[in-house]
Amino acid sequence: MRVSVIGCGYLGAVHAGVMADLGHDVVGLDVDVARIERLRRGEVPFYEPGLAELLKSALASGRLRFSTDPDDVAESDVHFIAVGTPQTEGGTAADLSHLEQAIEGLIPRLRPGALVVGKSTVPVGTARRMKDRIIAAGVHADLIWNPEFLREGHAIADTRSPDRIVYGLDHDAAVSRTAVTMLDDVYASALSSGVPRFLTDYATSELVKTAANAFLATKISFINAMSEIADVTGADITALADALGCDERIGRRFLNAGVGFGGGCLPKDVRALTARAEELGAGESVAFLKEVDKINLRQRQRVTQLATDMLGGSVYQKRIAVLGVTFKPHSDDVRDSPALDVAVQLKGLGAEVVAADPKGVENARARHPQLSYTDDAEVALASADLVILVTEWDEYRSLDPEATKALVRSPKIIDARNALPRDDWRSAGWTYQGMGRR
Ligand code: UDX
Repeated sequence: MRVSVIGCGYLGAVHAGVMADLGHDVVGLDVDVARIERLRRGEVPFYEPGLAELLKSALASGRLRFSTDPDDVAESDVHFIAVGTPQTEGGTAADLSHLEQAIEGLIPRLRPGALVVGKSTVPVGTARRMKDRIIAAGVHADLIWNPEFLREGHAIADTRSPDRIVYGLDHDAAVSRTAVTMLDDVYASALSSGVPRFLTDYATSELVKTAANAFLATKISFINAMSEIADVTGADITALADALGCDERIGRRFLNAGVGFGGGCLPKDVRALTARAEELGAGESVAFLKEVDKINLRQRQRVTQLATDMLGGSVYQKRIAVLGVTFKPHSDDVRDSPALDVAVQLKGLGAEVVAADPKGVENARARHPQLSYTDDAEVALASADLVILVTEWDEYRSLDPEATKALVRSPKIIDARNALPRDDWRSAGWTYQGMGRR
């Protein structure tokens, strides 16, 4: 199939690479000239395991090219819209300006019979609006909303073989078998390997994505609320989560208590769903999501409070090694990162913070140049009065308590992800504090 991918950020760059790898003829379009130049050289502007290799081989095969010229998508049969829908400046709703620009730029270039496929995460009602724009322009083209569920760090596998494929169709028009068949052809490899495909309406397809992220966020905030209860009762949150997770109806995944969720999706999707529900007069239905957000943000405060307590009431002029700045391991993404937030708060309280991260230093420095950074954990640990593990990179999980003790000034550690073997650290002489595991 001749395919275009409009928007070559995280979602689009991965999608373009995987589509070309599956044998489609792909053009990736973006307005960011510098990004397109890098992608043309097979360089990935962010860290995603395996993506550089995938892009290089797809570029070499001739099936993938990148462009900033909107006319270059005119020959494509299927157009994937993969632009960002970030939180609005100063608000909680989603900013749809990139999406609107992408659709307006695409409409005059659509061939008769072309298919537009929306992958971006959008507030419910957006697909209908976009389809109406296409109809109003008098173009004979269809629109399917097909949300993406990829996780950073697993983006290639999640794109190649997702848990499910959802097609949101225009139920106001005669169901377009041609459009469904075209998209089935694009996804032939995943569909033939048994990935379930759901045919539904626009609203459901849009909601599947935001509901999934809201559910995951709720699960994390639930276990973090329980971890606050564990702290005041002396219970152990990890043992509690293990026992809860044995119930198949609950499941153990996404029940890790700690400093909470961050990144470019969960926080903004929770807020955008709340904002959209309020607009629709159904704010009460998801009012609990505000509490989910509050519980999440409170965990960052909880870590800084714990640091203050462990340092005798003040962090002022204390040297603190913060291990991790990204919102999770296997990513260089620092958007809404709990780890970076903790480092910034401690710095604001007068601590001498040295933040370490294997991949995220460059992005973190661009946002918060006031902090000291290193990619070498030993540099951060040297003479530290307190160590805080905030992103559970493997190299931090596997730190040796004895060797680490020799580097620091005072053997005190906060395990803000409950990722370390607590008993080993305690028996090596460390004052160890987890989250909900007093
Ligand atoms: C998420 C969704 O998982 C994905 O399906 C969607 O398409 C985009 O948003 P991602 O943002 O890559 O993906 O991160 P995810 O792996 O879901 O983790 C989100 C955050 O939750 C991270 O900060 C992580 O550290 C935190 N988390 C996760 C916990 O605090 N506890 C857990 O048990 C699991």
